Amino acid sequence: MQKTRAAITAINGYVPEYRLTNKELEGMVDTNDEWILSRTGISERRILRDRTKASSDLGAEAVKGLLKKKNLNPLEIDLLICATATPDMLFPATANIICDKIGAKNAFSYDISAACSGFLFSLSTGAKFIESGRYKKVVIVGADKMSSIMDYSDRSICILFGDGAGAVLLEPNEDGFGMMDEILRTDGNGCNYLHQKGGGSLNPATHETVDKKWHYIYQEGQTVFKFAVKGMADVSAEIMEKNNLTADDIAYLVPHQANKRIIDATAKRMGVSMDKVMLNIQKFGNTTNGTIPLCLWEWENKLKKGDNLIISAFGGGFTWGAIWLKWAYGA
Ligand code: ACO
Repeated sequence: MQKTRAAITAINGYVPEYRLTNKELEGMVDTNDEWILSRTGISERRILRDRTKASSDLGAEAVKGLLKKKNLNPLEIDLLICATATPDMLFPATANIICDKIGAKNAFSYDISAACSGFLFSLSTGAKFIESGRYKKVVIVGADKMSSIMDYSDRSICILFGDGAGAVLLEPNEDGFGMMDEILRTDGNGCNYLHQKGGGSLNPATHETVDKKWHYIYQEGQTVFKFAVKGMADVSAEIMEKNNLTADDIAYLVPHQANKRIIDATAKRMGVSMDKVMLNIQKFGNTTNGTIPLCLWEWENKLKKGDNLIISAFGGGFTWGAIWLKWAYGA
């Protein structure tokens, strides 16, 4: 018997219905479809328009679908981790609210905050609970209502993000499938270039923070772009080298969907052809913690047992990393 690994055994995604197209954005800010598509790869993104709904609602929908697919009772969940950059409120954790909404009464739960790398970091964290042997069913949710922190008068940012969520179930695997290795990194100096300044203990909400638009996401696009290209490409290549994996060994690259040009550069550095790259940025934009599970969800039927996946991300913090995963089910 091999060591106990954490394997993804089910996946589900959820996106709200409303499609915010490049065409509609043309009427909101000085931009155009050609610029957005060529600079980012995005055509449209989904928006949760119901003001009474939050990230927990997106996450709860993703988990409900996951439980249904797997025919799993919510009472069986041991732990639920929610990766989010747009929690319903500063506390309690959005994960707790999701558990309440889905009836996971036996689970403990908490959030992980690592911006666009949150889902990756949460996968790593959840895996440790499974590998310890103490927990059998861990749900990882990535959920973000990015529209809630978006300045829709700033063309440099509002074109990039959308709302969405995805969830996976982690279970123990003794047959050599699941999470194989990881490289995770942070650089706190990145805070200067990508942040949401208002609402925390440094700058609690005041009229001034609202006037200064500190409750919106702030990004120095070009600087972040340079770090993202290098960071994501570096760790993705490094994890392959470390484990003697060649491009032929890789079934799919599962990249965080921030900008198609960052994804192209990562695939090129790995020597992986674009037909092996999961890409849905064109229809969902950057859903922050939703991008990776939404990709896995959409590609689920194509995945085969034993497929080697490299999941990689880059985000605010800065945070970045890559996970090597052996897919545990399918044909
Ligand atoms: N439409 C038309 N023109 C625009 C738009 C727009 N929507 N936005 C900017 N421009 C203009 C600029 O004003 C500038 O004009 P100028 O030359 O006259 O000054 C020109 O286009 C070029 O602007 P850049 O900022 O240099 O454009 P760039 O090619 O860098 O693309 C982008 C901007 C898409 C934001 C890119 O920098 C990017 O993707 N950055 C990284 C995003 C990322 O990875 N974030 C991390 C994850 S997010 C998270 O963690 C929450």
